Amino acid sequence: MSPLVGSGANPLRDPADRRLPRIAGPSGLVIFGVTGDLSRKKLMPAVYDLANRGLLPPGFSLVGFARREWENEDFAAEVHDAVKAHARTPFREEVWQQLIQGMRFVQGTFDDDDAFERLRATIEELDKAQGTGGNFAFYLSVPPRSFPVVIQQLKKHGLADQSGGSWRRAVIEKPFGHDLKSAEELNKVVHEVFEPDQVFRIDHYLGKETVQNILALRFANTMFEPIWNRSFVDHVQITMAEDIGIGGRAGYYDGIGAARDVIQNHLLQLMALTAMEEPASFGADALAAEKEKVLGAVRLPRDLGASTVRGQYAGGWQGGEKVIGYLEEDGIDAKSKTDTYAAIKLEVDNRRWAGVPFYLRTGKRLGRRVTEIAVVFQRAPHSPFDHTATEELGQNAIVIRVQPDEGITVRFGSKVPGTSMEIRDVSMDFAYGESFTESSPEAYERLILDVLLGDANLFPRTEEVELSWKILDPIEQYWDKHGRPAQYPSGTWGPAEADEMLARDGRSWRRP
Ligand code: BG6
Repeated sequence: MSPLVGSGANPLRDPADRRLPRIAGPSGLVIFGVTGDLSRKKLMPAVYDLANRGLLPPGFSLVGFARREWENEDFAAEVHDAVKAHARTPFREEVWQQLIQGMRFVQGTFDDDDAFERLRATIEELDKAQGTGGNFAFYLSVPPRSFPVVIQQLKKHGLADQSGGSWRRAVIEKPFGHDLKSAEELNKVVHEVFEPDQVFRIDHYLGKETVQNILALRFANTMFEPIWNRSFVDHVQITMAEDIGIGGRAGYYDGIGAARDVIQNHLLQLMALTAMEEPASFGADALAAEKEKVLGAVRLPRDLGASTVRGQYAGGWQGGEKVIGYLEEDGIDAKSKTDTYAAIKLEVDNRRWAGVPFYLRTGKRLGRRVTEIAVVFQRAPHSPFDHTATEELGQNAIVIRVQPDEGITVRFGSKVPGTSMEIRDVSMDFAYGESFTESSPEAYERLILDVLLGDANLFPRTEEVELSWKILDPIEQYWDKHGRPAQYPSGTWGPAEADEMLARDGRSWRRP
């Protein structure tokens, strides 16, 4: 008898088989803030890419809500342009023609009751015309000050109501608050209307393939985990460097700064995934519980002056072009103290990590765009080689290359061919482009699909958000009271103070 038959369920047909495409059931997505940059560059293209990959249901509906005086056709034309400009997969007319059937636009402001009644009527119409079954996700791609009013309006107009067997979900973009207190207030507002399992907070880094792969690397293999601890690891460096400036985002960025913009969310999530224990399962609760344990065990060094650095880009040269400094950007107060660079040192008070520093840094207008996690190992406790043989030998490292050159590098020493014993660093590389034929989906494709499927694994919970603010708040308060960010020329690797911070610990930043 064939083992497939004998073992009960045929794995090729098992509906729980993780290799089968996960296709969303009848549903629709309503985007608030649909005229914004995020919607145009990421959300609309991601919806199209999902449709193009056959992962959306046939009657999938997309509703835009905004102040603009648009008709359905104007909205569809806007989506069309966004898709043509930013979608990952090729444009196919037949996919577009199907998608357009379910596109609607509702004009109004967030405090306009009539507009929310029109939204309700639109959803009912779509349920009939498109078979969406009352299942709708509301994507709040709006500034945080507008969260409360939109959430309240959804409640007031019965749009959050799941009675009748359909589902309603709220998708909330960052920034989730400005500090712990405002995050707690926002959480309160959200949870007065939605149950925890109806709320999906976006941290788009968690939607990246390379970030999900951290868990595969650590927990699907045997060779990394035994050395993934204080007995072998010297320190961990997490870098998110961008070459762009703030572009047209002065209104959002000034007063927020690099630490709130990306350390509070993306970098602390990367740190949590790197440092956490193996979860009991890959269910949302088990994952979140382990991440929360790590975030709860993070300790700030006592001397915040010596273990944090913030910077602000000055003018300089980047990619052969002369660029202006932050204070000269449109819409920025010439006295602004906003950080466009931040580096912090954290420790994790638990048995695995005691005494191992985690250095996190991020900045705009740095040397080049790169995000990576480098686990740097201790030097060999004893070397039988001459000192001169190992002059060019660095520390072993496992580097998770999150982007743009996705993959993993292992750095170790190797004998240089020749008659003498000279040892130098070499790399062993895994590159996505070489190992896999399929290109990675965009983070937002994965996250929007997960929202429609109700799969919460890749979405930070309330507690994670609050724990992250608890880590950042004292740093921001310290910075508020002490001086100004150090200036660094655009196109460099940040302020000299950041190099000094590591040099004091006898270490240096990697130059990726
Ligand atoms: C966003 C930040 O969350 O992430 C931006 O608000 C930043 O300031 C962006 O530019 C970077 O995302 P990615 O995916 O390009 O690394």
